[in-house]
Amino acid sequence: MNTESFNWEYAPAPEAKDHAKIKKQYDLFINGKFTKPLSKKYFATTSPSSLEKLAEVAEANENDVNAAVKAARVAYEKYWKKLTAKERGKYIFRIARIIQERSRELAVIESMDGGKPIRESRDFDIPNAANYFFYYAGWADKLEYAFPNKTPKSLGVAAQIIPWNFPLLMAAWKIAPALATGNTVVLKPAEGTPLTALKLAEIIQYADLPPGVVNIITGFGATGAAMVNHKDVNKIAFTGSTDVGKIIQKAVAGSNKKLTLELGGKAANIVFDDAPINQAVEGIVNGIFFNQGHVCCAGSRLFVQENVAEEVISKLKERMETLIVGDPLDKNTDIGAINSKEQLDKINSYLHIGKEEGLEIHQSNCNVPSKGYFCKPTLFIGASQSNRVVQEEIFGPVLTIQTFRTIEEVIEKANNIPYGLSAGVWTDKGSKIFNLTTKLRAGVVWANTYNKFDPTSPFGGYKESGFGREGGLHGLLPYITF
Ligand code: NAI
Ligand code: MG
Repeated sequence: MNTESFNWEYAPAPEAKDHAKIKKQYDLFINGKFTKPLSKKYFATTSPSSLEKLAEVAEANENDVNAAVKAARVAYEKYWKKLTAKERGKYIFRIARIIQERSRELAVIESMDGGKPIRESRDFDIPNAANYFFYYAGWADKLEYAFPNKTPKSLGVAAQIIPWNFPLLMAAWKIAPALATGNTVVLKPAEGTPLTALKLAEIIQYADLPPGVVNIITGFGATGAAMVNHKDVNKIAFTGSTDVGKIIQKAVAGSNKKLTLELGGKAANIVFDDAPINQAVEGIVNGIFFNQGHVCCAGSRLFVQENVAEEVISKLKERMETLIVGDPLDKNTDIGAINSKEQLDKINSYLHIGKEEGLEIHQSNCNVPSKGYFCKPTLFIGASQSNRVVQEEIFGPVLTIQTFRTIEEVIEKANNIPYGLSAGVWTDKGSKIFNLTTKLRAGVVWANTYNKFDPTSPFGGYKESGFGREGGLHGLLPYITF
């Protein structure tokens, strides 16, 4: 098909942002109150699309971390441990309801602070964040049914460190199960995207949780490290890079702290010749271009069966031409801003590496805003296992394409990677799906769909993608002991 026959010029449809209330400065949320940092330091969070400074947030030092952990410990002993499970559930339920009520504002702030398209923060991140709170609210008073003939007990204080790709959603994934199981929390959002977590602090205050049950502190890696190394923390939950995950695992070794790590990924998305090709192309696009490819489970390695490769690649190129890269607050935008300059530099360096490796590069012809951090959707065609762009996590809208002939070959190639978080399979045949799901070393395997999430289903990885599960009944386990 002639790509010129497409004319996808849409008039701008910007989401209003006047209802999004962002304060000039945010303090640390400790013991139920916003408190000035003992460090006396603040840093700016900016918008990766407009490059404007959105707010200043406090930089917690070791003393601030101590104060937060202390508040969480006191709250655990004094209130949370003593509260009936049913009452705990009510508080969590209340948080879920307020997130729903304030979803418009949260979506706008998420897109401003992190660069993701408003369509995604509005339809995916925020509703899902509410859903995880709803779901775990339900478990609070049913733990003995979740683990029959056992007596689940809470651990104490959970230190939780989250990344910038799904800021509010990751906060929900961490906080909801911790509270449902009777633990108290100190959470640190990523330095580039702290605003929705601070809004969540306001929500928690409004929901009238006992002071100190949830503490939200901001800062960089050093703040996270102080949380990890704190002696009075019982449990650490981390989502982020494999490099930092390894540092944390070393730091925790030999201590009594429970640990879950959700790290990088390099998922195989596998298309067989009997797959519904048009749906598969949609799934490929969703798998890698969703959220600018800032997704640990992104379908970043495409494997197409040789006899349909030409058709799939040509349809994929056509579909890419229709993708709109631009203002995250525009409702038509498909691909928003890359989260930070560092991340854009990293992606660009991989574009360079792929070219140096001799791969054919294809980018769509779309316009890209001159201001802000943006990257066109990109394919590397004719890739092979030894390419760095195939082996390493790029975390951007960049897809490598490899072909295969047999099932054995594709299983071998899909698994031959340090990561094991997720995978996708596209085929008409149920038996092939079952065959592959048992052989792919990945925590999640999607069949004839991609990037689908539900609070009831566990998520987590193998190998260098980490360990432990979040979501579902399994997601309660890291927060309890028997
Ligand atoms: P990062 O792992 O440095 O940051 C994640 C969180 O960990 C942030 O809150 C950060 O402040 C904190 N942190 C940093 N150093 C720490 C330390 N020593 N101890 C405790 N906490 C610490 O990730 P970064 O640098 O933002 O991104 C680098 C790469 O990591 C990305 O290009 C991507 O490949 C990968 N990544 C993977 C994510 C995932 O969901 N699996 C999420 C974010 C990044
Ligand atoms: Mg920001």
